[in-house]
Amino acid sequence: MTRVIFHTATTVDGFLATEEDSLDWLFATPGSAEAEVAFGSFLDGVGVLVMGSSTYEWLVRNENLHDEPERWQQLYGRRPSFVFSSRPRELVHGADIRMVAGSVDEQWDEIRKAAENADVWIVGGGDLAGQFADADLLDEIRLSIAPATLGSGKPLMPRVLGPERLTLLDAKRAGQFAELVYALRPASPGNSPS
Ligand SMILES: NC(=O)c1ccc[n+]([C@@H]2O[C@H](COP(=O)([O-])OP(=O)(O)OC[C@H]3O[C@@H](n4cnc5c(N)ncnc54)[C@H](OP(=O)(O)O)[C@@H]3O)[C@@H](O)[C@H]2O)c1
Repeated sequence: MTRVIFHTATTVDGFLATEEDSLDWLFATPGSAEAEVAFGSFLDGVGVLVMGSSTYEWLVRNENLHDEPERWQQLYGRRPSFVFSSRPRELVHGADIRMVAGSVDEQWDEIRKAAENADVWIVGGGDLAGQFADADLLDEIRLSIAPATLGSGKPLMPRVLGPERLTLLDAKRAGQFAELVYALRPASPGNSPS
């Protein structure tokens, strides 16, 4: 059954990026073989990527995807990607990128169908993951916490979610990262996320 998983790196104080969309704090953190292996097996289970337009534009800039569109497939394979945006964006040539707008509920059928029973990866940002949580569609939050604080920036999850909804499933160390996995219960009893 398809699960919807928000998997992201974050700072200790809960930011995904600076206000200017910088991830320097993340690149300054030494990588770890454990984290790469864990991410590889996570991606193996993913059928669809979902992201907001700032994350998409960051990827396009940072990976130089308009000039080197083949990089998209090297990173994500042929998985369909849904990019939420209220305005048209230039697509990466040859990648299966579907620009969508409106509520995540309205898009859910298409996203679920495209996943073909594999998992849906909410890449970011935090508010988009929050929209899936609001719609009782988010099953899991996986965090790789880097040893950094920013004080301000793009928030991890600008929502109020208490222990009645979040359950810690796993906690591990991967090099300098702390890896936490939380299950998220639906807000409305009886709602099934997928
Ligand atoms: N630390 C990490 O591992 C990690 C992971 C992911 C992302 N990031 C970074 O974190 C930052 C996230 O940026 P962000 O917080 O601005 O979030 P974002 O979700 O990437 O982008 C937000 C934008 O997406 C569009 N959008 C969101 N929901 C929508 C909806 N329902 N319908 C239509 N459009 C919608 C809106 O822009 P428009 O309508 O104007 O297009 C909104 O301003 C980026 O810098 C990204 O690179 C870091």
